[in-house]
Order: sequence, then structure tokens, then C-alpha cells
Amino acid sequence: MLRGTIQVPGDKSITHRAIIFASLAAKRSKITDALLGQDCLATIDCFRSLGVTIFIENDTTVVIDSPGVEQFQQPNKPLDCQNSGTTARLLMGILSALPFETTLIGDASLSKRPMQRVVTPLTQMGARITLSEQGTLPAVIVGNQQLKSITYHSPIASAQVKSAVLLAGLFAQGTTTVVEPEQSRDHTERFFELLAYPFAQISPYITTITRCSMFTFPDIYSVPGDISSAAFWLVGATVIPGSDVTLTHVGLNKTRMGIVEALQKMNAHVSVQVTNTDGEQTGIIRVQSHQLCGAIFSGAQIPKMIDELPILAFAATQAKGQTIIRDAKELRVKESDRITQTAKVLNQLGANVSTYEDGFMIEGPTHLTQSGYFNSFGDHRLAMLLVIAQTCIGEALQIENLSAYKVSYPTFLEDLESIQINEGENE
Ligand code: S3P
Repeated sequence: MLRGTIQVPGDKSITHRAIIFASLAAKRSKITDALLGQDCLATIDCFRSLGVTIFIENDTTVVIDSPGVEQFQQPNKPLDCQNSGTTARLLMGILSALPFETTLIGDASLSKRPMQRVVTPLTQMGARITLSEQGTLPAVIVGNQQLKSITYHSPIASAQVKSAVLLAGLFAQGTTTVVEPEQSRDHTERFFELLAYPFAQISPYITTITRCSMFTFPDIYSVPGDISSAAFWLVGATVIPGSDVTLTHVGLNKTRMGIVEALQKMNAHVSVQVTNTDGEQTGIIRVQSHQLCGAIFSGAQIPKMIDELPILAFAATQAKGQTIIRDAKELRVKESDRITQTAKVLNQLGANVSTYEDGFMIEGPTHLTQSGYFNSFGDHRLAMLLVIAQTCIGEALQIENLSAYKVSYPTFLEDLESIQINEGENE
């Protein structure tokens, strides 16, 4: 069983954005409680190549000493975004406005992911961007200091697309508007608010930004814990009998709360206590094991838990009845094809999962067993799902590419060890 308290690492999306906004401002800023996993380190390295001095003080603190975006230098080598879609897509928004050419590259997984979705609006704004024939990285970006503002109706609810356009909008003449089909996470907008940049939230789906004349950042900024990392404990503690886990200083942003709402709909015992409402809301989540029941998820619920759908599908294998997840086609273009690979892994564990083009149908509950070699396919969220499965089964699985978890949760295994109580052990 799992019992105890965990401070989950800093939010990945917010850490990326804190590094980006701090780097744009001509000053020294400190980011505390940051996630310094591989993805965010990739963002740090990209800004170093642009001329920003970044010092990693300890595992969760980074000091950014920037000359300001006006002084950014053309990098003398391609910027390597590694596994990180957020790095590639958000940086493209900024690089579109700079007076030089840059090239973005990534690892094998990122080099398969679609980039045309950001190139289309950024090209409309006046940047010149060339992708591979497949619409993927490498991207060569020729920036334009005279970007035009646009109104962009995004065909997908994607915070990365929205943020790329809004970041470019900080440098464009006039007011740039992004309209989304459903609301995606709003961390970029919350930074605009914190920094008093000229933006307006017309509705949850419509955001505007007007050219910014002066970039700024607080001297110290603390990153809330990542609800996407917390999700593994929310599900693990729900399905492993006798568990009782408390998660502290977790980000409770409304656009990210889908996993909590979904588990509550499935009858989980999850309670939330808000402790801070200033800026990004944070608080404490307590979860105690409880029998789940199946449920149906679609539409606006999906972007609010897009990264948690693999572990939610795992939870559904332990729920009584049928769970259906639809409108989640975006999962096919994440760090892996998360519809195919999640179903593959869960069925290998003995679950009963079938797929749609845009989701899953899961019949539960099933008794899970270990069998042969499992593979995370280099996807951090699948690696952690497999570790939760192993904890639930109570026997070690042979997991290939397990270390992928370090992309978003470098202390995942230590945290597990700190709350795992094996049968017969005293509490
Ligand atoms: C992210 C947005 C999400 C999410 C990703 C991080 C972000 O992607 O899957 O892990 O930081 O903006 P989309 O909203 O683009 O689908």
C-alpha cells in the first residue's frame, strides 16, 4: 500500500514558461521549486545558446541572468529541444520575432511530432519557417521584427499552439487574438497577468495580447507542484487497497483539474484543500483507496487532463464497469502514440482495452499480471504508468526504457520508495 506525504516536483508547463519569461526580461531572476527534469533543462540550454546566463543553484532552483530579449544573439549551432514539444513550439513563437535565423532540432520522438500547427499561424504573422517534408523538425526559422498581429482560430485545443502565437504576439504590431475550440491550459495567460502584460481574456476560449514594450519578471518566482505528476499517486493510492496519500503544494489550476474531477466521477476518495489563490492556485490533495466505477469522458473534459489519460485508462482497468474516453485524438501525437501504446501496455498486463481513433473503451475490473518485457516506448508517462502497475501487482515488471520518467519526474522512484509499505512491514 501507499501511505504518507509527497511534495510532487514543480509543474513542467509552468517551469518552461517561467524560464522563458525570465529570459525575456533584462534582469536577474530566481525560480524556486522548479522542475529541472530533462524537458526543462532543454529549454534552459536553448536560452543559454541565445546568450542568457543560467545558473542551476540546486535540484529545484535556477537563477536566470538575462541581458533581455533585445540582446539575444544568433546561436552558433541548432537549438536542441530534445524530447520537449513545449520547448520547440513555444520557442518558435519567440524566434519568429528575432532578427536572425535559428534551427530547432529534437530527439527521435520529437522529430516525428507535428509542427505545422504552429508554423501556419506564425507564417501568417510574417515569420519564415521551413520544416521537413513531413511537417516536423528540424525547423529553420527566419525571424521578422515587423510581425503582424492576427486573429487565429486554432483547429485544436492546444496550449502549445495558443502560447506560440501569444508569445509572438508580444512582439507584433497591434493586438493578436487566439480562439480555441475548447479551453486549453492557461499558464501563459497567467504569466501575462502576473507580469502586467497587455492581454485580455475575452472568454475562456478567446485570448488577446498586444505588443509589449517592456519585459519584466519577479525577483523570485516559486513554481507550484505538478498535478500531472501527482496523477500517478492519485491513481496508485486509489487502486492499491489500504493507501492514504497526501500531496502538498500541488497546482490546482482549473484548466488542469480534469484528473481530479474524473477520479471523483469514478467514485474515488480524493479531497482538495485550496491553500493559496494568489496567481496559480495551489493546495493539498488527499487520496484514500476506494473501489472505482466506470465513467464516460469526452469534449471539454479532455484538454483539462490530456497528459493524464494514460494513467486514467490504467485506473479504469480497476473500475467496475465500462469506461469510455473519446475526443482525445491528440494523444496520437504526444511523446508516443499514447492511444496505441497505452492500450498495448494495459492489454499486456491482462486488461480489456479496445481503442477508437480518438480514445479508449475499457472493461473493468481486471486482475493484472506481469508477463514478459514491457516497454515505455521512451514515453515518460508510460514509464511511470508501468511502475504504478508494478506496485499494484506487487511483483517487479521487466521494463525497457524505464529511465524515460526523468523527463518530467526525476525523483519518481525515490518518492515511491518513501510512501510504499510492503505487506508485513510496520507503518
Ligand atoms: C503543454 C501543453 C499540452 C501538454 C504538454 C504541455 C504546455 O499540450 O500535453 O505536455 O506546456 O503547453 P497541448 O495543449 O499542446 O496539447
